[in-house]
Amino acid sequence: MNKQKVLVTGGAGYIGSHACVELLEAGFDVVVVDNLANSKPESLARVQRITGKTLAFYQADIRDQAALTAIFAKETPTTVIHFAGLKAVGESCQQPQLYYHNNVYGTLVLTEVMAEANVKQLVFSSSATVYGESESPQYSEHFPLGAINPYGRSKAMIEDILRDLSTADTLNQAPNPWKIALLRYFNPIGAHQSGLIGEDPNGIPNNLMPYVAQVAIGKLPQLSVFGDDYPTPDGTGIRDYIHVVDLVKGHIKAIAALNSDKFLAGGCKAYNLGTGQGYSVLEIIQAFERVTEKPINYKISPRRAGDLAECFANPNLARQELNWKVEKNLDDMVADTWNWQTKNPRGYD
Ligand code: NAD
Ligand code: UD1
Repeated sequence: MNKQKVLVTGGAGYIGSHACVELLEAGFDVVVVDNLANSKPESLARVQRITGKTLAFYQADIRDQAALTAIFAKETPTTVIHFAGLKAVGESCQQPQLYYHNNVYGTLVLTEVMAEANVKQLVFSSSATVYGESESPQYSEHFPLGAINPYGRSKAMIEDILRDLSTADTLNQAPNPWKIALLRYFNPIGAHQSGLIGEDPNGIPNNLMPYVAQVAIGKLPQLSVFGDDYPTPDGTGIRDYIHVVDLVKGHIKAIAALNSDKFLAGGCKAYNLGTGQGYSVLEIIQAFERVTEKPINYKISPRRAGDLAECFANPNLARQELNWKVEKNLDDMVADTWNWQTKNPRGYD
């Protein structure tokens, strides 16, 4: 069994904690670096409970170069999965400097420390939000980029930086060139089927699924459906929701690809992680009502600024090159969200 050591930045967060479970179960050693800006250490206690395995945890900020250098020297990881980042679109519009400093500068420090330690294998959490306007609602990796808010632009800038690092290694004929997978997530939802870990948003959720779950459990009175006049079959927005466990499995596949002949000469490549299937807001509400047998109180409200009518993935590249495909359907996503929500009505508190 593979005993590679993976350093996971942001490993205490929603997606990172699920990735830690999959990594430990796949036989990797795991080191988490997280400043706990948007997470609690309890998530990592539960990761260890689910897997019966231990991981190393450092409460540190990825912008702290000295701390990061010491962690790399002590732990000598072979690969990094980089989840650490701030992700609230609205907040990024109000505090762009915070987002560029945390996400972009943080990645600069991380890659500098990695290069110093000669660890040049990286899986990065990008987002479908990097795509620009397109004729087709089904996005392929070669589509033009054009993020429309500071959060999205921070992801696009990081993608550029990582591509440039890889190109420079090719130009310089570096003996150990960067091997980088940019994973563009569509809409991750759901939770581990144990109900022990899941999404624990601070305050009132911005995203649809945690909002619906909190309406269903009675924590919030009513869901606002942002617009029913989009050019979609039922008029509400369509997105590609993907189960977080399927999503993190894509990261394990990406590590395997980076270790394979495909990346022998190094490189930096983007892959969509989505199901390829879109669902409307009303379809999500119906699925929630069907699975939980609870009515969802909702009203139609005006459109939310910056929202697209429809956005879903073409996942073929990840299928072909990473040998990855999703295993869970919408009912699984809803059932696992509900299981987490009912077992942890106040999140990790
Ligand atoms: P999350 O907030 O739950 O997890 C991010 C983690 O990073 C948190 O634990 C936070 O404390 C940590 N962190 C933030 N800044 C840090 C810093 N400077 N140093 C150390 N740790 C830091 O978010 P998530 O949903 O798990 O997202 C993980 C990654 O995936 C993020 O980069 C996010 O932008 C990206 N992403 C998320 C989604 C989504 O819908 N959840 C979609 C696309 C991309
Ligand atoms: C949002 C972010 C995106 C980020 C993604 C995953 C914006 C503009 N975009 O995408 O950058 O990568 O989350 O974190 O914030 N909806 C409602 N009522 C609600 C909430 C949402 O009707 O209370 C609708 C939205 O209009 C949309 C769908 O539900 O049609 C999904 O919304 P959301 O979960 O916020 O995801 P995105 O908008 O796709």
